[in-house]
Amino acid sequence: MTDASRDLAPRIRPRRLRQSAAMRRLVSETDLRPRHLVLPLFVREGLDAPQPIGSMPGVEQHSLDSLRRIAVQAAEAGLGGVMLFGVPATRDAIGTGATDPDGILNVATRAIAAEVGDTLVVQTDLCLDEFTDHGHCGVLDDRGRVDNDASLERYAAMAIAQAEAGSQLLGLSGMMDGQTVAVRTALDDAGFIDVALLAYSAKYASAFYGPFRDAVDSQLTGDRRTYQLDPANGREGVREALIDLDEGADVVMVKPALGYLDVLRQVADLSTVPVWAYMVSGEYAMIAAAAQNGWLDGDRAQLEALLSIRRAGADAVLSYAALDLAQKGLLT
Ligand code: PBG
Repeated sequence: MTDASRDLAPRIRPRRLRQSAAMRRLVSETDLRPRHLVLPLFVREGLDAPQPIGSMPGVEQHSLDSLRRIAVQAAEAGLGGVMLFGVPATRDAIGTGATDPDGILNVATRAIAAEVGDTLVVQTDLCLDEFTDHGHCGVLDDRGRVDNDASLERYAAMAIAQAEAGSQLLGLSGMMDGQTVAVRTALDDAGFIDVALLAYSAKYASAFYGPFRDAVDSQLTGDRRTYQLDPANGREGVREALIDLDEGADVVMVKPALGYLDVLRQVADLSTVPVWAYMVSGEYAMIAAAAQNGWLDGDRAQLEALLSIRRAGADAVLSYAALDLAQKGLLT
């Protein structure tokens, strides 16, 4: 030890700021409150009681009635919003159910917007995969490839249907090129200038969406690598976010969250609009399954993951644990 470092040793004590709960609270850099969280919800056509999703302990497919009840609870708990996903009874090649005003997602949106639309932000997933019989996020050309521009026309129609149903923020999760500007133009032309757009800008082709496929009874047999991003590419994720900013996105998102905190940080540093992250089904399920086995404290692990996502730069996070944590009073 040099003389200088011996001098410093007793003075430089970072632990000083960790000695009492009051001091720790005062110096805490990041907080996690109900308003920072958005709860994804699944509504399935034809159900008359909620049905558990095996690969997502604690998460259910909802009937219209149980959806209404849980949305009210989300509002009472002070959550920032709910993101609705529809599970239709029938599917076809172009996803007709997505644009039908009587399709399950649009019916559910109408019900929820009327019930809680003034207290939290009612949001809808804008993508075709739940509604197509092939399970892809777009429509297919005659060679079976996802047709970008034909898909944009379907997204534009879907956006109008969701806006008419009362959705306040549309989650563009299809990863087609030009989707933000296509949907913005369609909404504006139809007079829906106040409906906001959340661009799932940096959405990676991830194995962590596995349990979601159960949640929406997905029909997909192939993969989504011609439109979702390669997990190897950070720069490309930033590029997608910059494109969405140019196209008029009101919020940009990175998804999944935990494996992509570097991308999230870079996007947060560059973005001129709020940046959100989606802690996806597999990220939720890993913790829930380990907790069921008694291998870790599920609540603490969910909180730590969400706090880390906020620390990396997310203004808000989509999380399946949002309502549970809020109702337990763990978000302060
Ligand atoms: C597309 C969509 C998906 C998710 C959200 N929106 C599925 C996919 O792209 O394969 C996944 C969310 C999750 O895993 O929690 N409609």
